[in-house]
This record gives sequence, structure tokens and C-alpha cells, in this order.
Amino acid sequence: MDAIRIQGGVPLNGTIVIGGAKNAALPLMAAAMLTDEPLTLTNMPELADIATMGNLLRQLGVRIDQSALGAGDASGEAGATGRTMTLRTEKIASITAPYDLVRRMRASVLVLGPLVARHGEAKVSLPGGCAIGTRPVDLHLKALEALGAKIELKQGYVHATVAKRLKGAQIIFPKVTVGGTENTLMAASLAEGETIIENAAREPEIGNLADCLNAMGANITGIGSGTLRVKGVERLHGARVPVIPDRIETGTYAVAAAITRGSLTLKGTRYDLLKSVFDSMASAGVEITQQGDSIIVAAKNGLRGVDMMTEPYPGFPTDMQAQWMALMATADGASMITETIFENRFMHVPELTRFGADVNVHGASAIVRGTAKLSGAPVMATDLRASVSLVLAGLAASGETLVNRVYHLDRGYERLEQKLQACGARIERVGGG
Ligand code: UD1
Repeated sequence: MDAIRIQGGVPLNGTIVIGGAKNAALPLMAAAMLTDEPLTLTNMPELADIATMGNLLRQLGVRIDQSALGAGDASGEAGATGRTMTLRTEKIASITAPYDLVRRMRASVLVLGPLVARHGEAKVSLPGGCAIGTRPVDLHLKALEALGAKIELKQGYVHATVAKRLKGAQIIFPKVTVGGTENTLMAASLAEGETIIENAAREPEIGNLADCLNAMGANITGIGSGTLRVKGVERLHGARVPVIPDRIETGTYAVAAAITRGSLTLKGTRYDLLKSVFDSMASAGVEITQQGDSIIVAAKNGLRGVDMMTEPYPGFPTDMQAQWMALMATADGASMITETIFENRFMHVPELTRFGADVNVHGASAIVRGTAKLSGAPVMATDLRASVSLVLAGLAASGETLVNRVYHLDRGYERLEQKLQACGARIERVGGG
């Protein structure tokens, strides 16, 4: 199993190109099942999770063609640096998303809405527990039920069926759910009549999906607000859609600049996607400058501790919580970090303390008291964002850090070591771990 070795303490300097958003690309790929015409996605990141979704979709009957980096982007969309992927679902070949894939990647559950809407039937494994909490899919199922699907739970699988066509309904989510909103949007696009989704997630990835569905012929309004209105259509057609920049990759490299007290230019991204994080960074004393499609992030010593609470968009993203904690471990003064989205999302805490970070967890909050200097240590990655927070701490720490179990990183960060190396980081992948 691979590990990442870092000789820390080097301020990073240079430019990092930000890729397309994993969490936007995954639902867009699933949306390809809603039509028999080709859906072309540009600015696609190359990540393990994208490959896993590709494998699942192929099993379900989707043909996928990919072009290499940069090629095929004749459209010249801003930020279209990644690959182009064309997905075509002439016929649904299978209705089953097996346990093995869903367990590995929870976003597999996003095939549920498209399968039921297009084919009238889906069998999707329940995801089961995961490292950051129980993460049920009950709200996805309730929404599909409201649209007229019959839901049965058998042998660990959700079996959803609809006799004819789904029917529009009013759906009020009791809790903001990104995946639940996405599944409902896709299903409602092909339903008969109007669906109103209240307390919908407002994450930019939802906007990307809604824009894609509209480009495919859907009729969705209220994009970006908490109320989405979907007028169902009988069929959708092909489209060509760019994936938005990855705001979490952007934020992670912004923290890399700040935690090493360096300066990085993040290219091909958007400030507005991550305003809450940049606001918190500015309060901590990090300098942030926007320049076209680039953001320059620079920091010197003397950063201040800033309290933060994770919230649905436009609040501070839970997927940046671990990275923020690593940064706060190097600030002057204390910071209280409260996690409101997922229970049990502090697994990085015991690992961060191995660098000498001073963190105490009380329920859903953690108090971080900044330390003058972190020192390198062997640590163990637990989930995607926790893993990267250990890499960030390792970049700031003096001496050697070895991050074990780095396969988590490959799920969400494209060419992480290369991007960091190009900015002066002494980081390499090694066998073992
Ligand atoms: C998505 C992101 C993930 C991010 C999360 C929150 C993708 C592929 N993943 O995950 O990176 O951390 O949003 O921004 O886009 N919940 C229920 N019942 C449900 C569904 C969710 O109780 O049926 C709960 C969850 O346990 C969690 C909260 O709602 O506590 C938010 O989860 P949700 O927004 O659905 O997260 P995901 O879509 O799984």
C-alpha cells in the first residue's frame, strides 16, 4: 500500500491549476442515464471516484468515451483544462448498483433517481456505515416515494419501482441533503407534472447539475435558491456541459499556501464558490487576491485563530473542516471548530495531535490551541479530507512525515504530489505503509 513521505517546513511558491469538481462530475455522470443521446462533460477530473462511477455506469449500460487532457475542448470553456467524457445510454442494461461499489463510493446511490425515472426500476445497495458517520439515504427514498415510486428494502438493497411514470410532488426536505436534492432533481426532470423541492441544497454542484439538466431539455427554475421548481418533461436529449472548478481542491491548496506561510496562485477556479472559506482565511490574516480566473493566497507568520462552524452552502463546507483544523493548529491563539453536518468527523484529531497539535474535542466541537511549530510524524489517513489535512500538517511540520493509507487521497485529489512538488514541496509517494 502506498504512503506519502514529506520533508516539511518549506514555504510553497508557485501556481497550481485547479481541476473540475469531483462532487459535480459524479451526479453529472449519473444524469447521462436520463437520455439515450450522448452527454458530453468537459473539464472532468481524473480521480479514482470518477473511475468507480464509470465502472458502475458501464455495468448499467452506459458507453463511455474519454479524450486525453486538454484534447477535445475545442469549445474553449473557461477552465476547461481536464478531460472530456462522453456518456451514452442507448439502453439500460442492468438496474443493479451492487454492494461492493456502493460501499466503496457512497455517491453510487445517485444512479437511483435516473434509473427509476428512465427505466421504472432500480436496485441499489444501501451504503452502510462509513468513516464519517452513519450517513443514511432515508431522505432520498422518501423523496422518490413522494414522486410515486414504490420502495422496498430487501437483503441490504433498495428496490424502487414505478408502474408508469413518476408524478410531480411537493417535497420538503427536513434536513439539507446534497445527494438527496440531486437524486430528486434528476428523477423529477422526467416526471409528469411539477415538482417543488423545498429546503433544497444550494451547493454550487447542484447548480451545475440543474444547468446540465436544463441544457438536456429539462425545465428547472430557482437554481441557487432553497426552492427548486421542476416542470417534468417526457424526454431529455444530449448536451455538452462543463464541470465547475473544484472548490474543495481550491480551498485545500489555499490552506497549503497559508499553512506553509508561502504564496500560491490557484488557477482556473472561482472565488465565489468558496467565499466562506476565504472570509475565514482573511480573518486569520491570510492575504487573498482575485485576478481573473486565478486566486493568489499568501501568508506570513502571525496568523490568528478564528472560530468556524460547518454549515450547508453558502456556509463553511464540512469538506474543508479537517484542512482548517490543520491550519488553526499553526495559528496564534485558539479556535473553536464546530461540525454540524456529520457526526464523527473528527478522526483526523488524534492523527493531528501526533504532529504536536493541541486539539481537544467536546462533542461536536473541537478547541484548537495554536502551537509555534508542528513536527513531522508517521500518521494514518482515514478518509479523503482527513488524509489531506495530514498532508497539509506534514508540509508545515519540521522533519519527516509519512502519511499511510493514501489511497483515500486518490479518490479526490488529482496528481497531488506533482502539483505540490512543482511549488517546492518535498513530497513523494513511496511503496509500503
Ligand atoms: C455530499 C458530498 C460530500 C459532502 C456532503 C455535505 C458528494 C458526492 N458528496 O455528500 O463530500 O461532505 O455533501 O456537504 O457530493 N442525511 C440523512 N438522510 C439522507 C441523506 C443525508 O440523514 O437521506 C444526512 C447525512 O447523514 C448528513 C447530512 O444529511 O448528516 C448531509 O448529507 P448530504 O448533504 O446528503 O451529503 P452527501 O450528498 O452524501
